[in-house]
Amino acid sequence: MKRIIYPALAMLMLNTVADAKVFKAYNGDVDFNHSKHMGMYPCKDCHEGPPRPFGINKEKAHKLCIGCHTKEGAGPTRHCSQCHGNKPQDD
Ligand code: HEC
Ligand code: HEC
Ligand code: HEC
Repeated sequence: MKRIIYPALAMLMLNTVADAKVFKAYNGDVDFNHSKHMGMYPCKDCHEGPPRPFGINKEKAHKLCIGCHTKEGAGPTRHCSQCHGNKPQDD
């Protein structure tokens, strides 16, 4: 039973995730390409436990996002405007 239910559930979850998320910020909204990041990393790299919203805020976001970009040497780190007030990325 588990074998049959799990893939269906996973598909359902993937289908409910928006490709691009927008995090509101007074200094410029942040467009986050969730599907692109999802293709690069396992869910658990960002989601502790089941993948779902975790109440993102400035502290969590800067730690998570800038932390990984710094570690990977890729993605925005020092330039605020590369995240704040950016345009949605389609690729
Ligand atoms: C690079 C980081 C990252 C990865 C990898 C990632 N997510 Fe997310 N995900 C986020 C962030 C950030 C949010 C928004 C959290 C919030 O709003 O509190 C989110 C939100 C979600 C949500 C809530 C619905 C929505 O669209 O807001 C779901 C469901 C989800 N992710 C599923 C997944 C699944 C399934 C995977 C793995 C296949 C995954 N995520 C991989 C960062 C990531
Ligand atoms: C890698 C992307 C990224 C970079 C680079 C970045 N931020 Fe952020 N920042 C975010 C995200 C995501 C949030 C969370 C927005 C939310 O909670 O909805 C955020 C939140 C904030 C907030 C809170 C806004 C609010 O309305 O509460 C401030 C202020 C802020 N950042 C300032 C900065 C400054 C200053 C810099 C440059 C030194 C910077 N950020 C660089 C992604 C980034
Ligand atoms: C686990 C690692 C990891 C995490 C966590 C992560 N990123 Fe990234 N991000 C990357 C990498 C790697 C790239 C570079 C991809 C490329 O060059 O194609 C990137 C690229 C980006 C870009 C450049 C445009 C794009 O889509 O390629 C933006 C904007 C961005 N990330 C925002 C965020 C925000 C906002 C968060 C936090 C909510 C976040 N990232 C969390 C690894 C991560």
